[in-house]
This record gives sequence, C-alpha cells and structure tokens, in this order.
Amino acid sequence: MKKEFFSCPEKIDESKLYGFSWLEHVLAVPSPLVVVTSYKDNGLPNATMQSWCTFVGEDGFYCLFSSVNKYMHMYSTINKTKQLVINFPSKDVFMKCMKTIKNNAYDTDEITASGLSVESAVKVNAPRIKECFLNLECEYVWEKEIVPDSNHVIMCVKVIGICMDEDHYNVEKLGRYGDTGYLYNIHSPRNPETGKVEETQVGIIQKYATYDKL
Ligand SMILES: Cc1cc2nc3c(=O)[nH]c(=O)nc-3n(C[C@H](O)[C@H](O)[C@H](O)COP(=O)(O)O)c2cc1C
Repeated sequence: MKKEFFSCPEKIDESKLYGFSWLEHVLAVPSPLVVVTSYKDNGLPNATMQSWCTFVGEDGFYCLFSSVNKYMHMYSTINKTKQLVINFPSKDVFMKCMKTIKNNAYDTDEITASGLSVESAVKVNAPRIKECFLNLECEYVWEKEIVPDSNHVIMCVKVIGICMDEDHYNVEKLGRYGDTGYLYNIHSPRNPETGKVEETQVGIIQKYATYDKL
C-alpha cells in the first residue's frame, strides 16, 4: 500500500539530519559518486567527494552539481581557477578516495596523501586521479543558489575532454557497470513510519534488461 507524507514524520528527528531534508533520507535516491579535483592557491591538489550531481548533453555536455557547499575548498578553488576534473572511482579505489576527506589541510596534496597518484589534465589546469577509470576535464560555467542566502549552490561545469580506461568502455572487458564500474551513493535511508535508520552505503549498478525485452 502506498502512503502519503507531506511533512517530516514524527519518528524522524529533523534536528539530527545535519541540515539535510527528511525527504533526502526517506527517498534516498542514489546518485553518482565522484571525486572533484582542482588546484589550490599554493599549487597543491584539492580533492572533494561529491555525489549530488547529474549529467546532461545540450549543445555540449555538462555536469550539474546540485549541492556544492560554499565553505568547502572545492568551491573556493574552482571559483578561482574555473577549472576542475571529475574523477570516477570504481570500488577498488573507493576507500582511498574517501581518505581525501581526512587529508583536507591546505598544505596537503590530498591525492598523494590518500595513496593515489596525480596526473596532469591535458586541457585544463587541474589534477587528475590516475587510478580512477574515468576523468572528465571541465570548465566552470555558472552557479546559482537553490534558495536565497543558501550555504550551497548548484554549479554547472562544461566537459571539454575526457580520459577513459579502454577496458571500461569495452563491454567485453570490465565495462562501465557491475562490480568494476560506476559507484552510487545511497545516503542513509530511513523508514518514515518506524524511523529506522540504515547506514550510508556505496552501490553498484546491476543491468536488468533491454527495453524491448521487457
Ligand atoms: C560520498 C560523499 C559524497 C559527498 N557529496 C557532497 C556533495 O555533493 N556536496 C557537498 O557539498 N559535499 C559533499 N560531500 C562532503 C565533502 O566531500 C566533504 O565536506 C569534503 O571534506 C570537502 O572537501 P574540500 O573542503 O576539500 O572541498 C560528500 C562526501 C561524501 C563522503
């Protein structure tokens, strides 16, 4: 039976959601998990885990980050350099990518400190993470606050070139999905009736069927 919810259910304590909407956790829609890299003022690589993002082709190809915190280094570095790389980890390098959150000091090369390797992008002034199977070299285009005076912005960046591991675009080899492909963030789902909290998890995509066979 489907049930309707129009406000935060009693069993969910809104004051313990760290600023997220209750809908974030009741819906818990998975989103692609990436690492955004850019250069800080001091020339050292910055790396930021991001997962509220989507991709769209419209006279070019763009990534829309739907919630970039204005107080993160990602925001300040990209506002200065206007250039970045979006790196896609598969599960073998995920835990190293997560280490970039702790290795977050201004005078730290956040990629190397996390056990990953820096490689130079070709078209933009930003570092790439070598171990990630896909890197999108991007330029900043625009940003907009979701609501006035928000701490977060929607940021649009244009993809101007990519570097992709050949075994991942070859479906006969590793491919883009399953155990070795794209990762998704599943952000702590909650049961609106009981309030039961599931831990945040990383997901992979399992192919189901082609449309014409459904
Ligand atoms: C899986 C995952 C996804 C994240 N996605 C976002 C996001 O979409 N937007 C955001 O503002 N922070 C997000 N964060 C939090 C930032 O990665 C974190 O605050 C980071 O330390 C900021 O790094 P920086 O200060 O170098 O930019 C995410 C964290 C994790 C672990």
